[in-house]
Amino acid sequence: MSRYRRNAMLSVEQLFEHLWQDYTTRLCPSALKVQKLLTHQQGEPINDHIALRTFSGSKLGLEQLAKHFVELGYYQAGEYHFEAKKLYAHHYQHPEADYPKVFISELNLAACSETLRDIVNKLTHDIPSQYTDDVRFLFQGRPWRISKQDYAELSKESEYAAWVAAHGFGANHFTISVNALPGFADLEQVNDFLVWHHFELNHSGGDIKGSEAVGLQQSSTIADQVSVACSDGELCIPGGFYEFAKRFPLADGVLYQGFVEASADKIFESTNR
Ligand code: NI
Repeated sequence: MSRYRRNAMLSVEQLFEHLWQDYTTRLCPSALKVQKLLTHQQGEPINDHIALRTFSGSKLGLEQLAKHFVELGYYQAGEYHFEAKKLYAHHYQHPEADYPKVFISELNLAACSETLRDIVNKLTHDIPSQYTDDVRFLFQGRPWRISKQDYAELSKESEYAAWVAAHGFGANHFTISVNALPGFADLEQVNDFLVWHHFELNHSGGDIKGSEAVGLQQSSTIADQVSVACSDGELCIPGGFYEFAKRFPLADGVLYQGFVEASADKIFESTNR
C-alpha cells in the first residue's frame, strides 16, 4: 500500500450518495419531492443510471470522469455519437446489476467554433492537470469563475457548453428505474402522476422517448431553475432534471441495458433555456 493515500477512496454507495446530495442541493432540489411522491414510503427507488457532462480534452475529458467508476469495478458497455450537438458519450455498467449505470458525455471542442473554444480554454486554463485525480471533483461543481457574458456567449452556440461552464461537475440527472418502481405499471402512469402533481415534462421528441421495440422508454422533467453565482452577479438558469426509464427485453430475451441515441439526443434538451 502506498505511503501517501491522496484520494479519499469511496465505495460505490458512498460515491452515489455524495452525487445525490450535490444534485439535490445544487442542481435539482425538486428531485427530493418527486422521489418522495413516487416512492410513498416504499423505500428508496432503484436508479437506472446517472448522467455526467464535461468538455473533451486530456485534462477534463470523459475518461477523466470515468476512471473513478472503472476503479470501482465499472466497465465501458456502450459508445454514442450526437453529431448535431457535437457530443460523444460512453456508458458504464457494473457487474452488480443494482448499481446504476453511468452515462458520461463530452462536448467535442475540436468541432466547435474558435470563440467557444477560447472561452472554455480561458475557464479551464488554470485547472491543474491532477485536478481529476481526487474522486471528489465529481460532485464539487465548478472549479473556475465565469461571467454572465461568457455564459450568454456559450449558450448561443451550445446549451450543453453553457451548462457545463455554469455548473461544473455533478450529476446532470438521476434516473429512476420504472421496472423496479412499485405501484406503476408503465411510464405513462409515471408521467400522468407527475403532471397531476404539477411537474412539467420535457416534451421534446414526445413525452415518452423510445419504445418497447428499441428496448428503452424514457421521460424526464424539465430542469429546475437554479441560481448560480457569477463573477458579475447572479444567473437563474436550468440546473438538473429527473429522468424515468423503463427497459424491455430485446429479441434475445435479455433486458436491454444500453441507451438509444435518438432518445438521448432529446433528453439533453431537458436543460435548454
Ligand atoms: Ni439519462
